[in-house]
Amino acid sequence: MDFKYYVFDLDYGAEELQAVREVLKDRWLTMGPRTAQFEKAFSKWLDGTPCALVSSGTTALHLAVYALGLSRGDEVILPSLTFAATANVVVQCGARCVFADIERLDVPLLSPSEVARKMTPRTRIIIPVHYAGFSADMEGLSKIVKKEKSRRKKAGETRPLYIVEDAAHAAGARDSQGRPLGAISDAGCFSLFSNKNIAAGEGGIIATKDASLHKRILLLRSHGLTRQTWERHKDYAGDQAYLYDLMEPGFNYRPTELTAALALTQLEKLPRINETRKALFLRAHERLKGISGVALPFAEPASWGKPSYHILPVLLPDEETRRRVAKSLAKEGVQTSHHYRPLHTMSYYRKKTPRAECDLRRTEEYAAREITLPLHTRLSFADMDEIINLMMKALFSN
Ligand SMILES: Cc1ncc(COP(=O)(O)O)c(C=O)c1O
Repeated sequence: MDFKYYVFDLDYGAEELQAVREVLKDRWLTMGPRTAQFEKAFSKWLDGTPCALVSSGTTALHLAVYALGLSRGDEVILPSLTFAATANVVVQCGARCVFADIERLDVPLLSPSEVARKMTPRTRIIIPVHYAGFSADMEGLSKIVKKEKSRRKKAGETRPLYIVEDAAHAAGARDSQGRPLGAISDAGCFSLFSNKNIAAGEGGIIATKDASLHKRILLLRSHGLTRQTWERHKDYAGDQAYLYDLMEPGFNYRPTELTAALALTQLEKLPRINETRKALFLRAHERLKGISGVALPFAEPASWGKPSYHILPVLLPDEETRRRVAKSLAKEGVQTSHHYRPLHTMSYYRKKTPRAECDLRRTEEYAAREITLPLHTRLSFADMDEIINLMMKALFSN
């Protein structure tokens, strides 16, 4: 189906074409100098936090929780209002997902008090999601973690407890204290999927200040081998077979140089990309504020530090209205999306989640009412105004 306005469009031009051409000309396709260059450049965005570029946001999350030792018998607390990958990587490690509710309808982020309520001695990791590129309450969560760690210490319990930020939406974002999202806790994971603020088709980043965790992530990203093909190629000494070792069985989660080249080009544009998104987001809020039947998540954007404005979520009165409005908008040439169908309502997790843990009323109401409007850098203010006008027309016609 063709639309006049897509939910997302790429901010690509001659720079991306040139970047890909150069990779092809250099004839080195997998994890090499451009990967290292991107990691260095992105690390600067995170105030020096070391980064590893990997093949996707999902493999970034998997590698982070795996390297933190997540395994059978462990529990992970996370929002149900997230993309499937946040939970799936927990299951891939043999651990159990415990879903916690969001803070409020206008703050659709993991609620620290709900995390405290769902904490057990088996909790090993908490995964807040910086939904739409707005900061989860990292202060609130770290207080809870500190308290639980001290309880465990007193009780002689040895299970560690970590926070891993799902920063898939949050490239270039900072919280109200100026801290870069994805580099506040034990580890942070970003996505470079096609619809993200840095779009490279596929790709992900793991950031961590913990030097030994970073080192292990680098090893596990490429099979657990100590020397990579690029390093061996650079200083070839003729005794290749003896120059590297296998430390532990790892994965092939390597990025390609094409990914790194595209990501580097997009990173240069990120200040403009995020500023344009901000302007359009604020414009939409200005137009929608006070309209009866419309509620706005993140209603006071200025109080959130520097979000990345990854998506534009709007709440309509109820699920039926949301579906009706989405259909009318599609007919008018406006594509919309939905972030997200709660994971505890999806077949697999519904079967796996004990009933007592499905007390996620705010998440359910939010999801029933949420519609995601188009937001990307190829939209003008006039485009955004037209999208909003069409939404209001659909909302108020029966
Ligand atoms: C919140 C969230 N977490 C994780 C992911 C997974 O990232 P990727 O698609 O790069 O594997 C996404 C991607 O859409 C996401 O939106």
